[in-house]
Amino acid sequence: MQVRAAVIPAAGLGTRFLPATKAVPKELLPIIDTPALQLIIDEAVGAGIDRIVIVTSPSKPSIEAYFEPSDEVLSKLRSTGRHALAKRLEAIGRDVQVTFVHQHAPLGLGHAVACAADVIGDEPFAVLLPDELMGDSSLLDQMARLCESTGGSVVGLKRVPMQEVSAYGVIDPSTEMDASGVVQIRTMVEKPAIEDAPSDLIIIGRYVLTPDVFAELEHVQPGSGGEIQLTDALRAQAAKGPFHGVLSNIARYDTGTPLGWLSAVVNIALDDPAIGEEFGRFLRSRVS
Ligand code: G1P
Repeated sequence: MQVRAAVIPAAGLGTRFLPATKAVPKELLPIIDTPALQLIIDEAVGAGIDRIVIVTSPSKPSIEAYFEPSDEVLSKLRSTGRHALAKRLEAIGRDVQVTFVHQHAPLGLGHAVACAADVIGDEPFAVLLPDELMGDSSLLDQMARLCESTGGSVVGLKRVPMQEVSAYGVIDPSTEMDASGVVQIRTMVEKPAIEDAPSDLIIIGRYVLTPDVFAELEHVQPGSGGEIQLTDALRAQAAKGPFHGVLSNIARYDTGTPLGWLSAVVNIALDDPAIGEEFGRFLRSRVS
């Protein structure tokens, strides 16, 4: 079955970005001129997704407002000849079907994904954590094809120094990695102590999951940090059937902290055809 739907958990309070996130959700912070959330949606669309479920909080109404039509701005842009920008604005939320569900309490990533169960239904789906930006859609696309061919869930992976594993979900591979970066996964654990970590391969914020994960989530008890952890439901899936990970070397930016966000913006701006060259000159003048 083709992977056509994606869940974007976006109900968090963004405490690592206060006071900016007091009024602007972190998912709408700009990467040059585009909200991070839009880049996440573009990545999903590039991997063949045409239905997005955003799990948000009633205290973040501007996420929903971003997808509302903006007639006044559009007519202003058109009357001043800025047609390309008008077209771009008009496409927001139109190139893909966007649905919202509310998570009323911050009970964890597993709980956030479970909130989308009724809207997703009985089909495989992607999960994209909006704190992480990818250079392109290739990883998600590879993961979706792998889920379609194996019939099992797939997670994105990254190799990190052992000192960093305790901040992530960590997998226990049961095979060597093949030339496409694919490994089979025996099991996984959320935020282990270094000495308990089964490998140095962490789960990054990209998942393609089979819908039986919703039944597993119903049984998950609060785990690491007292939260309902997605990793705990995935461990139950891996115990029952095929489960794979994919290691990719595409660019990946962690935009969840001010430094990570700034590094992402600088990197992406340097590669931007419109402003990259001038921005590069400015940076060199500042650091030389
Ligand atoms: C979540 C997941 C964790 C994963 C991480 C990737 O953790 O629970 O397994 O490794 O995202 O960013 P969080 O960052 O929400 O603590």
